[in-house]
Amino acid sequence: MHKEFDSPKRLLECMTLDEKVGQLSLYSADVKLAGPDPVNPTLSFQAPEHRFADIRAGRVTGFFNGHGDAFVRTLQRIAVEESRLGIPLIFGADVIHGFHTAFPVPLAEAASFEPDLSRKTAEAAAREATAHGLHWTFAPGADLCRDARWGRAVESAGEDALVSARFAAARVRGFQGESLADPQRLMATVKHFAAYGAAEAGLDYNTAELSRTTLIDHYLPPYRAAIEAGAGAVMSAFNDVDGVPATANRVLLTEILREQWGFEGFVVSDFESDLETIVHGLAATPREAVRLCFTAGLDMCMQSGTYAAHLPGLVADGTIDIRRIDHAVLRVLRAKQALGLFENPYRGLDLSYDPVPSRTLAREAARRCAVLLKNTHGALPLKPSARIALIGPFAREQQNLNGAWAIFAANAESVNLEQGFLAARGADALVVEPGCAIDAPLDGGIDAALAAARSADVIVLALGEGQHMSGESRSRADIGLPEAQLQLARALRNVSKPIITLLRTGRPLVIPELADLSDALLVTWFLGSETGHAVADLVFGHAAPSGRLPMSFPRHQGQVPIYYARKRTGRPAAPPPAMFTARYIDVDPTPLYPFGFGLGYGRADYGATEVDAAGIGWNDTVTVSCSITETAGVELEEVVQLYVRDVAASRVRPVRELKDFRKVLIPARGSVTITFTLGRTDLAFADLAGGSVTEPGEFQVWIAPHAEAGTPATFVLKAPLPSSATEEAT
Ligand code: NOJ
Repeated sequence: MHKEFDSPKRLLECMTLDEKVGQLSLYSADVKLAGPDPVNPTLSFQAPEHRFADIRAGRVTGFFNGHGDAFVRTLQRIAVEESRLGIPLIFGADVIHGFHTAFPVPLAEAASFEPDLSRKTAEAAAREATAHGLHWTFAPGADLCRDARWGRAVESAGEDALVSARFAAARVRGFQGESLADPQRLMATVKHFAAYGAAEAGLDYNTAELSRTTLIDHYLPPYRAAIEAGAGAVMSAFNDVDGVPATANRVLLTEILREQWGFEGFVVSDFESDLETIVHGLAATPREAVRLCFTAGLDMCMQSGTYAAHLPGLVADGTIDIRRIDHAVLRVLRAKQALGLFENPYRGLDLSYDPVPSRTLAREAARRCAVLLKNTHGALPLKPSARIALIGPFAREQQNLNGAWAIFAANAESVNLEQGFLAARGADALVVEPGCAIDAPLDGGIDAALAAARSADVIVLALGEGQHMSGESRSRADIGLPEAQLQLARALRNVSKPIITLLRTGRPLVIPELADLSDALLVTWFLGSETGHAVADLVFGHAAPSGRLPMSFPRHQGQVPIYYARKRTGRPAAPPPAMFTARYIDVDPTPLYPFGFGLGYGRADYGATEVDAAGIGWNDTVTVSCSITETAGVELEEVVQLYVRDVAASRVRPVRELKDFRKVLIPARGSVTITFTLGRTDLAFADLAGGSVTEPGEFQVWIAPHAEAGTPATFVLKAPLPSSATEEAT
């Protein structure tokens, strides 16, 4: 900070109104120095001179999705040396799952059920991104997703509120560390606030049609967890909630975020989402859009430039109080101060960092995210002597390893499957054929694949989605496998060799036929820079799969949205020929693979769930335990899950809700006893007035390997004694 300003407040006193709104105006790095924004609608390039003039005049707070020594130094120098007040720029970017090193996509990391893994990958991403001059990431996404058609399922942590909350918080801790002043840390942005993942029909940007209680119980907790973990910024969502676009939604941005949760950072719009309130039909003019968004609680606009154009006029005519502008500006200046930008505007820049630790972590992370869904007769891991036909559109190709949001990672530096298998086994044991393209047949592709399969002992079939099929604006109405891939798989089934299917995907896919014809089925998502090495580690048994599904896999896309924490109905599904229950006449209503499901190379046998008390007092806790034994003679990492059902409540509650989970190591043929503790606050839910309530009564509780398994134990939460009733206000 300039010597004469000893605090953001003092600095604020010296700013003109134009300089103030400049601090609330963020732009894409659409200066020729940085190249086009890789993930947003194509923009007209701004001539560098135009942007330089803006910076000199204090009309811009920072840029996003540009990086690098030359870019950052050139722009920052103009800001600190040539602008009147020398306020440093902030450089943001979509650092979602890695920077130079691509880590597994967020949905994959959620499958690890190890939030600490995400903390580590976020920390590594921050180290690389800050070295390239970035200060701020537009992550973590904390959008709960129950609809596999939604393209951004890939950026979510799946369908469960607790899993999503733990991963969102872990990522914030990873990006931000102990202090933002650390030049190797990024400020985090929790997004897209709120309920962006509830897009109706899985259609990106669509309205979020959901009840207030569902919003409170399921969709809001992940954002809140990120804020409680200290996220410095919030990004508003494109969608509307209750008919009000999130970017202009006072209930979300002020009542919930600031008044209920006490958030003190700043709120930035999504890309022009302030201006899009006009397209929504909420605002008639850009000026009206600015008034609505700013007064709702939006501090900064991204890309639209509307704040610079209209806030001064709205202040001048008394529509907006200058003190509100000051509050917003202070939040931004405080963030820049917390990042240490006033002391060192070039913080972090250091292109000499060592990439090796990130690659090691990327391989470890990738191994821990894969989910084994089927393994008939121990088809995996492969025997050392097996000759392998690696077949499929993803067997050799290089463009679909990193996933949609590793926008700064180099494809060429990622390890593909063929490379990984070669490194593990050498060329003699391997023959590779694509068989088909991602969504089209190849001339002679199936014949070549059949010949390769006949020459081998086992077929490893790499199928699934390309990375252009999952991500922003990549919603799919058909979430099956492309027909060309299914034809390849059917043809190979006739070869009578075991088929090990590796499923690359950014969402649950509808794969009943593929599952049937596979002897083993391993979901490998988009695993990033170390894909080939990590998959080879798993396939050859140097590591064992330990991931579990963070989203249910449907049998049929007509079931979507399908999720385990559905509300109870008055007519639960009963097996046919029963009629008049909640089932389809043509498709089994259960998922093909439920939430939480996954196998290892060992086998877990769960004992009965036990509680240490049949009834607990209002302020007491119950200990829930279960003994788990490994029965296959192979060490196993098991994701042990604790579920609860509220037996009778003042409103309909879910069939089950996940309340805790833990990944534990069970030695071969060994047993471990797992205990969880539950207290009253774990049993709270949203009441119809929008508050939170815990109700005494009976609860069922399961310790189980997935959301559809197990037999529950029961305990009763007793009503508070009269003396404690008054002190209680849950
Ligand atoms: C639009 C996306 O919705 C958001 O997630 C992203 O951070 C911005 N574009 C900036 O690239």
